[in-house]
Amino acid sequence: MVQGPGSGYRLDDDIEDVLLSSDRIQARLVELAGEIDRDYAARPLLLVGVLKGAFVLMADLARHLSTPVEFDFMAVSSYGSATRTSGVVRIIKDLEIDIAGRHVLVVEDIVDSGLTLNYLLRNLRARGPASVEVFALLSKPDQTRVELPIRYHGFAVPNVFVVGYGLDYAERYRNLPYVGTLRAEVYSSG
Ligand code: PRP
Repeated sequence: MVQGPGSGYRLDDDIEDVLLSSDRIQARLVELAGEIDRDYAARPLLLVGVLKGAFVLMADLARHLSTPVEFDFMAVSSYGSATRTSGVVRIIKDLEIDIAGRHVLVVEDIVDSGLTLNYLLRNLRARGPASVEVFALLSKPDQTRVELPIRYHGFAVPNVFVVGYGLDYAERYRNLPYVGTLRAEVYSSG
């Protein structure tokens, strides 16, 4: 990975395969936004994005919606690898909006084991919202350890490491407009 200014390096150079093109993602978001508009029928909706990965998705999805929406965000930390076994996550940024009586749509870029979302849903439901539903752009069915009620689902992806459209490797690649896999050299070059 050559990173010097003027070196001609582009993020795209690190991508092995594009799994979901930008056009495909946007077309699916338009479809799902249409479903959301029909389901909520202009009832005000609170979109809750799970940082950091959901910020790209949240911005695009919201711009396809006609339903009036407000935005809030949560950030969670997974205690390193502990969440993979225990499902316990720590909330490092909580909501600013009181969700009691509100219609909430949790927006996630990817559901992997499902443990993060499982914890978040239990936490949010305890706050007395009128409803809580889940929007997940991606899921990895082979990895799922907890079955979750995903109301709006974009795409199932194979059990490979994916980046782009909010998803990172070492905090990079979130700004790619598509979802893809990284070339093997990227992992070895640090
Ligand atoms: C990703 C994703 C979910 C979680 C899913 O976040 O955005 O929050 O992992 O994994 P799970 O289903 O196995 O619990 P990540 O921890 O990579 O943080 P980031 O969004 O800040 O990159």
